[in-house]
Amino acid sequence: MATIYNTATTLDGFLATPDNSLDWLFAVEGADDAESSFPAFLAGIGAVAMGSTTYEWLLEHEALVDEPQKWQEWYADRPTWVFTHRDLPVVPGADIRFTAEDVRAVHAQMVEAAGSRDVWLMGGGDLVGQFADAGLLDTITATVAPATLGSGAPLLPRVIGPGRLRLVSVEQRGQFAELTYAVGAPKTPG
Ligand SMILES: NC(=O)c1ccc[n+]([C@@H]2O[C@H](COP(=O)([O-])OP(=O)(O)OC[C@H]3O[C@@H](n4cnc5c(N)ncnc54)[C@H](OP(=O)(O)O)[C@@H]3O)[C@@H](O)[C@H]2O)c1
Repeated sequence: MATIYNTATTLDGFLATPDNSLDWLFAVEGADDAESSFPAFLAGIGAVAMGSTTYEWLLEHEALVDEPQKWQEWYADRPTWVFTHRDLPVVPGADIRFTAEDVRAVHAQMVEAAGSRDVWLMGGGDLVGQFADAGLLDTITATVAPATLGSGAPLLPRVIGPGRLRLVSVEQRGQFAELTYAVGAPKTPG
């Protein structure tokens, strides 16, 4: 069982523009081909976590309140934890658990729910950073798009040096570079 941050990113390390647009991602030639590895990845996932901006993007972009069957097509019955301090709309019929608990407590629930499968941290970057701070992030798979944005939602706004990151694989998928890193434990003080 591993806890995996799997995301697309720009070359300069942004998940989205400052106004949360992913148009730069969908504009990449052959963007669909780059998703070819996604079904196999998802098959190994037993629990999902994301922050509220990411959830609201999905709700709006895919009109999930009106078309909840799309959620079922992608995530099926995988339990999904959405981190928020607010009341947000629920996708009808989806196993979505809103939480503002500490990531350690939520991670324990996710691991139990996932069983032998992996945990997927979808983002955003600071939420994944909270898991990394707690030593709960095992793997980063960043699919780098041929685009820079200059500003936006950061990939992982933390300092994690080469002592903790080890490059495991590099795959070219059309115009994308899929980089996978193993993440070591944070150094304990003293
Ligand atoms: N390129 C990709 O493949 C990809 C992947 C993922 C995301 N994205 C995009 O990247 C952007 C990420 O947005 P973002 O940086 O704002 O990150 P986010 O993690 O999606 O949302 C951040 C929000 O989540 C809530 N939150 C975070 N940690 C929490 C905690 N411990 N407890 C309770 N609530 C917590 C807070 O909002 P509230 O408490 O106010 O609700 C916070 O403002 C979005 O536009 C998303 O669509 C792109």
